[in-house]
Amino acid sequence: MTVLDIPELALVALVGVSGAGKSTFARRHFAPSQVLSSDMFRGLVADDENDQSASADAFDALHHVAGIRLRRGRLTVVDATNLQPHARAGLIRVAREHDVLPVAIVLDVPEAVAWDRTEARADRTHGRPVLTRMRRDLRQSYGRLAREGFRKVHVLRGVAEIDAAEVRYERLF
Ligand code: GTP
Ligand code: MG
Repeated sequence: MTVLDIPELALVALVGVSGAGKSTFARRHFAPSQVLSSDMFRGLVADDENDQSASADAFDALHHVAGIRLRRGRLTVVDATNLQPHARAGLIRVAREHDVLPVAIVLDVPEAVAWDRTEARADRTHGRPVLTRMRRDLRQSYGRLAREGFRKVHVLRGVAEIDAAEVRYERLF
């Protein structure tokens, strides 16, 4: 079992390609109200969870809600791919503004696993090249997360390790 130590109050960024199992992981380990997903916010602003043209507004709203939650002292999990530095920078900024520790949990599954899952889903229509590009972004993310400001970087590699992970909360004071 891999124990993921997370401060009681943190901004937790899930990091992983589409099909890595971020939303599944979030459902399993956190309460629904703690999880802000890019899909949910695209739905809120555009009535369509897959409308990529709504992403800028969706993240704007997501960051706003995350900030309010952190101000109120509520642990917040961001369920988005978070594969690009600029996406993560927005989260680091919100965490810093509220004096809250940003934590990354990387879910890394083999590309073939993510692709098989994607093909089995009706709500995902991207092609294999998109997934390959996400895998490249993931590889480049590894060396950067700590430097970007994430205070803890938990990495779960492979389906079995993701499956066996447990979250443990650390007292802040
Ligand atoms: P995006 O939202 O597209 O970025 O993907 P995601 O990372 O949120 O993946 P999600 O949790 O939606 O999982 C994708 C698919 O894989 C879903 O159909 C899940 O049911 C399945 N899945 C996720 N985790 C597991 C797992 O541990 N085991 C198995 N067998 N299936 C899983
Ligand atoms: Mg998801």
